[in-house]
Amino acid sequence: MCGIVGYVGRARGVDGVAPKDHGALDVVLEGLRRLEYRGYDSAGVAVVADGRIESRKKSGKLVNLLNLLAEDPLPAATIGIGHTRWATHGGPTDANAHPHLADGGSLALIHNGIIENFAELKQELLSRGHSFISDTDTEVAAALLGDTYATLVAAGTTAKPLTEAMQLTCQRLEGAFTLLAVHADQPDAVVAARRNSPLVVGLGEGENFLGSDVSGFIDYTRRAVELGQDQIVTITAETVDITDFYGAPAQGKEYHVDWDAAAAEKDGYPSFMEKEIHDQPDAVGATLLGRSAPDGRLTLDELRIDPKLLKTVNKIIVLACGTSAYAGQVAKYAIEHWCRIPTEVELSHEFRYRDPIVDERTLIVSISQSGETMDTLMAVRYAREQGAMTVAICNTNGSTIPRESDAVLYTHAGPEIAVASTKAFLAQITAAYLLGLYLAQLRGNKFQGEIKDILADLAKTPAKIQQILDNSGQIKDLARSMANAKSVLFLGRHVGFPVAMEGALKLKELAYIHAEGFAAGELKHGPIALIEEGQPVVVVVPSPRGRDSLHAKIVSNIQEIRARGAKTIVIAEEGDEAVKAYAEHVFYIPETPTLLAPLLATVPLQIFACELATAKGYDVDQPRNLAKSVTVE
Ligand code: M6R
Repeated sequence: MCGIVGYVGRARGVDGVAPKDHGALDVVLEGLRRLEYRGYDSAGVAVVADGRIESRKKSGKLVNLLNLLAEDPLPAATIGIGHTRWATHGGPTDANAHPHLADGGSLALIHNGIIENFAELKQELLSRGHSFISDTDTEVAAALLGDTYATLVAAGTTAKPLTEAMQLTCQRLEGAFTLLAVHADQPDAVVAARRNSPLVVGLGEGENFLGSDVSGFIDYTRRAVELGQDQIVTITAETVDITDFYGAPAQGKEYHVDWDAAAAEKDGYPSFMEKEIHDQPDAVGATLLGRSAPDGRLTLDELRIDPKLLKTVNKIIVLACGTSAYAGQVAKYAIEHWCRIPTEVELSHEFRYRDPIVDERTLIVSISQSGETMDTLMAVRYAREQGAMTVAICNTNGSTIPRESDAVLYTHAGPEIAVASTKAFLAQITAAYLLGLYLAQLRGNKFQGEIKDILADLAKTPAKIQQILDNSGQIKDLARSMANAKSVLFLGRHVGFPVAMEGALKLKELAYIHAEGFAAGELKHGPIALIEEGQPVVVVVPSPRGRDSLHAKIVSNIQEIRARGAKTIVIAEEGDEAVKAYAEHVFYIPETPTLLAPLLATVPLQIFACELATAKGYDVDQPRNLAKSVTVE
């Protein structure tokens, strides 16, 4: 939610060193372009130039701000901040767009998160004569910061008034926030703060950067510093100083970003989503890479939890939201089957409000592409407080959830930019399977040979995904022909059930079509009443080579809905001739063991949703009302 960028470069001519060939505005706008997936309700920038703050902001996508800047350019500058917004307090209007100004227009502030005590602070500031022009909590934080700054300057007690004002302000704020501020009287520094909201520092030569994530500065440096909770950072062109909210010196952790700017580009595809769907063979392959020895022994060295402790686990709870929760639901079938450990999957936001039973023998597996989803972060924190062991499955290096977990198993899907998750989902299932197999290996539930066989099947998956991608013409044609559908239902059984729910979610979020995923067995308990003449129903059919009863049962379900007029679209395994008689359309996926089928069956559903939404003229990378990284509860 909200993308944030900050930049300070070497001022022209300082120390006789040549200036950078990019100005602050170039860096900030490029960063906003890359971070726009985090929110696109409005965008704004501020620079410090000629001893004053200059800012421009506009509601709508970044392109609106670019048009405004073309009409009304900003002066050249070596320091700037930029924001792309996902609206929380106040609608997506120009007035509510960031930056917000304070201290008579000398201070500019941008913000990600929610300031929970903003109403009380606003009252206090109003009573002291402040006035407000927006509905945002951010403007209140800006006013408080500006007020504190002015007081410190008047007292003349500090050489770093903006840093100290930020410390004092943060001591008074409640909630989750990343704040970035610049002041006209301190034209060499950007000061930032974070609590429960992401912020990363980028280290350059004679320039430094701030971003909600590394894509905010990936064009300029791959050296990054993770900040801890409740920290404040002051960057100048040459220095990075970190303190806590009370001014005590603090440390960040430097790391190298292992992907480059090109990995975050579209690679010739019309959208990030299409590119990311096509990245899936690599995402699964890279997630498997280097995690097993030739004899099939899993070597998850990065799991820093003592194997003796892992052996004591008597319950697993998977915590996640959205698509990541569906990955967890798929993984539950495999983990319980392989490890014989009871496994629950719970939406993170429901978990901690129901007084869950968690203790030191509970293993919490959080799944999050971004590693910043606030609901999941809070649930993980709660579980840790109860003494549980926590492992994060995450795609984003250095993000908060893995940092606050006992261990992390990274998915290596590469940057996922499109708001709808695709390659991260397959990589999450892959990583969760590796974790399940590792636990089975530790506990001796599986012979080494069995683990080796499953790993060998997993290793064949990327080529099979590629085969589906290479033959996607038929599903695309169908998707285009269904652009006017009002509702689409999805059915599945066993691991096909979460796949059906994921297929429905993709269609809802991309094509704005009513879609629901059901367990096929549940139909007769109510949802079958939805079936009427022509109702499209997508059915994820399990392999006929697997448990016979599963296949036979779903074929019966197809017959039941067809008898009531449904138009059936079936995803089935190659060679499954039996389903042909009951389907208007059949899409075949390569043969694979039942538990691995979600890694294949999901792909046509992603393509279907993407193509249908494109046919409707929608932006598949930035669907309405959504943001990639949900950093508010
Ligand atoms: O970053 P996370 O995996 O924690 O995000 C969880 C969900 O917000 C995310 O999967 C969301 O449901 C996607 N838009 C689905 O495509």
